[in-house]
Amino acid sequence: MCGIVTVLFLEMQLSVVSALFTVEVPQQLYVVEYGSNVTMECRFPVNGSLNLGLLSVVWEQKKQGRLLSKEVYTLRNGKPFPLSQHHDYIGRAALLHSELKRGRALLQITNIKITDAGSYLCLIEYQGADYKYITLEVKASYKRINKQIMRKSDEDQFVFMCQSEGFPLAEVFWQNEKKFNLSGSANTTYTLTADDLYNVTSVLTVRPNLSETYSCIFWNKELNEQTSAHISTLALMSTQYSGQKSLVLFIIPTCVIAAVLLSALIILQKRKSFKNCNAKKGRKRKLHHFFSVTGKININ
Ligand SMILES: *[C@@H]1O[C@H](CO)[C@@H](O)[C@H](O)[C@H]1NC(C)=O
Ligand SMILES: *[C@@H]1O[C@H](CO)[C@@H](O)[C@H](O)[C@H]1NC(C)=O
Ligand SMILES: *[C@@H]1O[C@H](CO)[C@@H](O)[C@H](O)[C@H]1NC(C)=O
Ligand SMILES: *[C@@H]1O[C@H](CO)[C@@H](O)[C@H](O)[C@H]1NC(C)=O
Ligand SMILES: *[C@@H]1O[C@H](CO)[C@@H](O)[C@H](O)[C@H]1NC(C)=O
Repeated sequence: MCGIVTVLFLEMQLSVVSALFTVEVPQQLYVVEYGSNVTMECRFPVNGSLNLGLLSVVWEQKKQGRLLSKEVYTLRNGKPFPLSQHHDYIGRAALLHSELKRGRALLQITNIKITDAGSYLCLIEYQGADYKYITLEVKASYKRINKQIMRKSDEDQFVFMCQSEGFPLAEVFWQNEKKFNLSGSANTTYTLTADDLYNVTSVLTVRPNLSETYSCIFWNKELNEQTSAHISTLALMSTQYSGQKSLVLFIIPTCVIAAVLLSALIILQKRKSFKNCNAKKGRKRKLHHFFSVTGKININ
């Protein structure tokens, strides 16, 4: 609250004395990697040696679409004023005091977060007052891509998965060795992590050709940055081989069982025809016997 009042007061003063004192920025835009450090600079005129007791510096962050700004760092009459610092910046923001005597108000922010992006106001009062805005953009490259291969148990299909975190949102493309675009068969989804990064997962389902390498490409459109990972089907050849092995393991017993059944059938058939033969012979004998008996009767 105090900080806001100070800023309003200084801004009021500013309209009176602006012509005499100007703040300058050597670099208007900073693009910073997530997790790294940044040092933003405002310059103000110092004639001779600096009288620190007369110097006040306020750094504030303002985000588009948000009414209130966050106080990043305040130096009032040469003394740090940490009470009004926004909790987002506690322990991460500092003014490099040694550079003040050269007329440089350097704000250092460490361990940059996605939420640090925005406009930064540096307001300086030193026998006069002025302010400027600096833009901070934060990017997070899709550096580490996690890969995974799965096999659809019921089908002849394989599932390739690539997952990575970054900012802003990336598009994911898939291609095979011949740079043939397979993105049409992919399903890309994302969630947000606790650190406001995009957690992007892309799943490609294909019936793969043997010994081919598939690539997933994360395209960070806003930064025009590409990262990629490669998945070789060689890695899943072993699973395919084990598939063939299990096929062999299935075929051999089937053949054995079929052979056993067949031979059993043949033996059974042979026995049957042998029995039939014997039965015919027996009947013939009986017939002979009958005739001989009847013959005897007839004769008698
Ligand atoms: C950021 O600054 C901190 C504190 O000064 C330091 O420990 C760290 O190594 C720096 N990180 C990078 C990436 O420069
Ligand atoms: C710096 O200070 C000296 C005397 O203190 C003065 O003569 C001179 O005009 C000042 N220069 C600027 C640029 O303010
Ligand atoms: C893509 O994946 C999500 C989550 O796994 C699922 O809900 C959605 O139906 C899938 N979309 C398509 C087109 O397969
Ligand atoms: C990102 O999503 C994957 C699932 O798609 C999950 O396993 C992983 O833990 C997530 N990572 C983070 C940092 O949220
Ligand atoms: C496999 O190769 C054929 C011929 O080269 C091609 O038409 C087909 O798209 C390929 N399939 C995959 C999944 O790469």
